[in-house]
Amino acid sequence: MLALKFAEKTAFCLLRTFTNFPCRRARPAILVFIAIGLPVHGVFAQEKNPYAGDEKIAKLGGYQFRLNCAFCHGLGARGGGRGPDLTRAQKRHGNSDAEMFHNIHDGIPGTAMPAATNGGIGVGMSDEEIWQVVTYLRSVQVKAPEQPAGNAEHGKELFNGALGCSTCHMIQGKGGRLGPDLTTVGGSRSAEYLVESVRNPNRRLAQGIFEAMKEFPQEYETVSVVTADGTKLSGVVLNQDQFTLQMLDTREQVHLFEKDKLRSFETRRESAMPAYEQKTLSDKDLQDVIAYLQTVGAQ
Ligand code: HEC
Ligand code: HEC
Repeated sequence: MLALKFAEKTAFCLLRTFTNFPCRRARPAILVFIAIGLPVHGVFAQEKNPYAGDEKIAKLGGYQFRLNCAFCHGLGARGGGRGPDLTRAQKRHGNSDAEMFHNIHDGIPGTAMPAATNGGIGVGMSDEEIWQVVTYLRSVQVKAPEQPAGNAEHGKELFNGALGCSTCHMIQGKGGRLGPDLTTVGGSRSAEYLVESVRNPNRRLAQGIFEAMKEFPQEYETVSVVTADGTKLSGVVLNQDQFTLQMLDTREQVHLFEKDKLRSFETRRESAMPAYEQKTLSDKDLQDVIAYLQTVGAQ
């Protein structure tokens, strides 16, 4: 109570000193502001995530993530050109809720990780929004992978060599960017899911980012575009709304188009990844590739 009175007095005097604002009328407003502000701060300054495990909140957090973080940390928090993969259970700068909150709230000094407050990122995020993002990051965090059955060494050779997987997929910072980064996929997905992704890529497209406002999460859709000057491009959709389309073409160039300026564009719910059938990839070799993904995902 004493602290409250003191804070009110200070605010009141500051107002009177620096403005001609009618102080008497401002006084109740200041009191209300402080009275509301204190308990809210009490909730969010705590060490534990108040929304832990809440799926709805995780979706909201995914939306915040796409707005504020994805251009550095990549789709689905799997890592991007400028920020590390955040789906790993082991974080460099602390694994607890409180440490993650702090890293996001204040940034990480001496690194490219900006503070989400005080204009560091966009318009700045509230404590509540930061907890939403932490909840989202927990929801995409990898679990302990199953024991790999195949020969991971051989799988690695195939991945980087004959099968050409690495021309589209990055693992630990090496490889192409047309498909999702697969560094943690072996830790976060079941072996069956991985088999199906390779044998039948169209059945279930990899998820980009959860969007709070959409029923379904954004996916790696395929897109073909003809620009006003007749240039033809194809690749994957990074993001789109009613008016704009952001895409990554097969040469890994990012483009942002206004849809009404394009001669034509077409998105398809099919994968830009070729289906690998028995002829090109035997069951045994596929086992080895998956063992490789699982070994990397476990690190
Ligand atoms: C300008 C690029 C950039 C933006 C925007 C950005 N980050 Fe980062 N972030 C980084 C970099 C770089 C690091 C790695 C710092 C280091 O260890 O060198 C990092 C590290 C982190 C870490 C710590 C990871 C660990 O291993 O401990 C978390 C958590 C994190 N960021 C979350 C976020 C969230 C949430 C957002 C959006 C609100 C965000 N970042 C926005 C670049 C960015
Ligand atoms: C021509 C580019 C290309 C090649 C080559 C390619 N992929 Fe893909 N891959 C993609 C794209 C694009 C997606 C996202 C759409 C989808 O889910 O099919 C994807 C998705 C995946 C996924 C699902 C990831 C997730 O998070 O759901 C896995 C696993 C995968 N690829 C593994 C492989 C393996 C293993 C190989 C080699 C045998 C390979 N890919 C070759 C482009 C490619």
